[in-house]
Amino acid sequence: MSKRVLITGAFGQLGDAVILELQPHFELCATGCVLPDDGFQFCQHVVMDVTVKNQVIECIEDFSPDVVVHLASMTDVDGCELNREKAWNVNVHGTENILNGLRGSDAKMVFISTDYVFDGTEGPYSEEDVPKPVNYYGKSKLASENSIRGSDQPWVILRTNVLYGNSSRTLASFVNWVVNSLREEKEIKVVNDQRGNPTWTAGLAEAIKLSIIMNIQEILNYGGAEFMTRFEFALRIADVFDLDSKLISPIATSELNQPASRPLNSGLSTVKIEEVLGLRTYGVDYCLRKVKEGIVA
Ligand SMILES: NC(=O)c1ccc[n+]([C@@H]2O[C@H](COP(=O)([O-])OP(=O)(O)OC[C@H]3O[C@@H](n4cnc5c(N)ncnc54)[C@H](OP(=O)(O)O)[C@@H]3O)[C@@H](O)[C@H]2O)c1
Repeated sequence: MSKRVLITGAFGQLGDAVILELQPHFELCATGCVLPDDGFQFCQHVVMDVTVKNQVIECIEDFSPDVVVHLASMTDVDGCELNREKAWNVNVHGTENILNGLRGSDAKMVFISTDYVFDGTEGPYSEEDVPKPVNYYGKSKLASENSIRGSDQPWVILRTNVLYGNSSRTLASFVNWVVNSLREEKEIKVVNDQRGNPTWTAGLAEAIKLSIIMNIQEILNYGGAEFMTRFEFALRIADVFDLDSKLISPIATSELNQPASRPLNSGLSTVKIEEVLGLRTYGVDYCLRKVKEGIVA
């Protein structure tokens, strides 16, 4: 019998790719604060707000998952800085509510974390580097990781960065912003001092699938095969989508005066996950071409 996998935050940017990748292998239950109104019918789906304890317990009792893929998160980095109570409630208490709901079972927690647990002084980071978040989003994700590691549930933590892909429900992605702006011939400024390895959502979904099948318990990084600044990433997007890269100009992060500090020299080494799960990472041009073709997973 196939494993029963409950997905939280299933209707965000990563959710679409995860649902499509897992659906042929597992029995799925997709959950989110609000259900999509676009005729979603890939799998069973119910409302579950991770901050509402009773809803979480009821949902877990009803579906009885073998695995929870926990994607639900407050991901607006500046929003987390400005509304710390909400960020902690969603990211940390939400995670703990799920762990409480799973207590007494041997269901596994698969948690998606971030390179924002690091300070961005010495990236790319390996799994052995010591976390030191510089903003509240990063602190709340690190606290969630620690709650999971301190619980009695089996777990895997996959850290990733700069996600992009095709999601029918998240229009506010970096790739969409660049493509739409350039199509409208708008000039855009993109930071040239934030570095990482942009990650195709379908690649991460594959890593999630393998981590369930191979039943590992580790912290693992997953990211794209190439490291670059956001400015360089925007130029690559323009190139693949045949748009005018002269509309893109560089700007320093400090000039943006954002509420939350950013880890600048960041990104994640993928040496360990390639060994442990035997998977490959993907280059940006290949993934962007898939995004252009509308491929989700
Ligand atoms: N995006 C990145 O570059 C990136 C990098 C590293 C790690 N991650 C991690 O990857 C995971 C997926 O990120 P993503 O890019 O898919 O973000 P996303 O598009 O913002 O998706 C997060 C989902 O969580 C939902 N959510 C928020 N509060 C919730 C609650 N109380 N109960 C249930 N669901 C709730 C959101 O719903 P609403 O939209 O309705 O609020 C959204 O559907 C997150 O854990 C994030 O921290 C993302």
